[in-house]
Amino acid sequence: MTQEFDIVIFGGLGDLSLRKLLPALYRSELAGHLHPEARIFLLARTINDQQKLLAKINKWLTNQLKENECPEEKWQSFANRIQFCSLDITKIDERWQGLSECLAQHPERDRVFYLSLPPSLYGTTCENLNNHNMISAQSRVVLEKPLGYDQESANDINSQVGRFFPEDAIFRIDHYLGKETVQNLMALRFANAMFEPLWNGRHIDHVQISISEEVGLEGRTAFYDQAGAMRDMVQNHILQLLCLVAMEPPNQLQANSIRTEKLKVLQALRPINGFEVQSHTVRGQYVEGLMRGKSVPGYLDELGSDSNTETFVAIKAHIDNWRWAGVPFYLRTGKRLKERCAEIVINFKPVAHNVFDGSAGHLSSNQLVIRLQPDEGMQMKVMAKELNKFEMRLQEVPLNLSFADTFENIRSDAYQRLLLNVIENDLSLFAHRDEADLAWAWVDPIMNAWNKCGSPVLPYEAGSWGPDASAALLHSDKRSWHNGG
Ligand code: BG6
Repeated sequence: MTQEFDIVIFGGLGDLSLRKLLPALYRSELAGHLHPEARIFLLARTINDQQKLLAKINKWLTNQLKENECPEEKWQSFANRIQFCSLDITKIDERWQGLSECLAQHPERDRVFYLSLPPSLYGTTCENLNNHNMISAQSRVVLEKPLGYDQESANDINSQVGRFFPEDAIFRIDHYLGKETVQNLMALRFANAMFEPLWNGRHIDHVQISISEEVGLEGRTAFYDQAGAMRDMVQNHILQLLCLVAMEPPNQLQANSIRTEKLKVLQALRPINGFEVQSHTVRGQYVEGLMRGKSVPGYLDELGSDSNTETFVAIKAHIDNWRWAGVPFYLRTGKRLKERCAEIVINFKPVAHNVFDGSAGHLSSNQLVIRLQPDEGMQMKVMAKELNKFEMRLQEVPLNLSFADTFENIRSDAYQRLLLNVIENDLSLFAHRDEADLAWAWVDPIMNAWNKCGSPVLPYEAGSWGPDASAALLHSDKRSWHNGG
């Protein structure tokens, strides 16, 4: 169970709060993790009828969670924690003082300020918290991604927040780091003796990190059209996954040690500049197509205007260090792709010498597939002899570890895990300012070069695996994408 705490959610009735934060807190309530005295403050510009709002939240949570997971008495104790506050962040009025007085009833408690707001409001919000004496030594602030639009704006925002909160009280959330399989990657690498000796360019041919989504804009038109796939997914989720795959073992599993190792990976990422974007990157935008037999509109139709924003990116990246010299990391993400799937695929080199003759069939290289979603698990593809055959025939067979089958009650709620970590003041699954900065420093020149070199945004049909150029990026290296399945 957590210690006593108060959590204040700015944007408390917004999309993120309803879809992720409240369900995550409610799951913690159901699991008995929340301290009985903990309070949840939901802030919004206008709060009308509180009973109606509670009923709306109840309905929302019941729909999200399975019926039998929501016993009435648990809902009551959750509802009792909730306090609504109407507050306009841009206005300084007595309502800030009101919030301050509520929090001051328990000065000793840990306080979490969750800024589920546009990043342009982070500075003002922190300043107002400070001016109304709400920031105590036990306070932390949670910032949502993407933090800024480029390196410069991200630095500005970080500096504004940094005026009021020390770095070790700033939790930059990247929900991919809360996914079970992502953490399992650390267990796989550092709790097993058999992988580490192979985890380098002598044995690994290349790595693929791919997050494909079936969804399109989901109504987030204004946000997404400004961001695009590079800022929305690559700058944060994909580069964080890359860091965890490629980093050296930290000397202990603690925030500072992990962050130090991740930083070294980001520093070693080879820049992609100027015309290199044409041979190392592909960007695309979906057009109308068929998804699971149903026609869906293209990006521009969903948006209702013209735009050059990419909904798909593929990149061939390199990490210039001893471990990864000569190993390409192929990164890919896109919306309206054929299947929802997030995977890290480690492709090993072929055996040193093939002792089988041609009649045994093709000798495929080993592959380790670490699947983050939809079915979390790992699969090792190895070669075996076909059974019941007199002659030697080889076949690739999977060794499967399905987390759902192996672990009972698997519940992979990334936000639940991360919120509990914030409450417990554990920074190990959150990005440091320097990580975000280095990630921007790698991503910015690519986006600038796209614009300068007039790199085209290639159309791809919704329901496909992206533009043909994405497959060609690997084919030209005699490789191909692992497309789910
Ligand atoms: C978010 C992005 O960070 O991650 C969304 O803003 C994206 O555009 C989402 O859809 C994907 O998360 P998940 O957990 O569904 O893969």
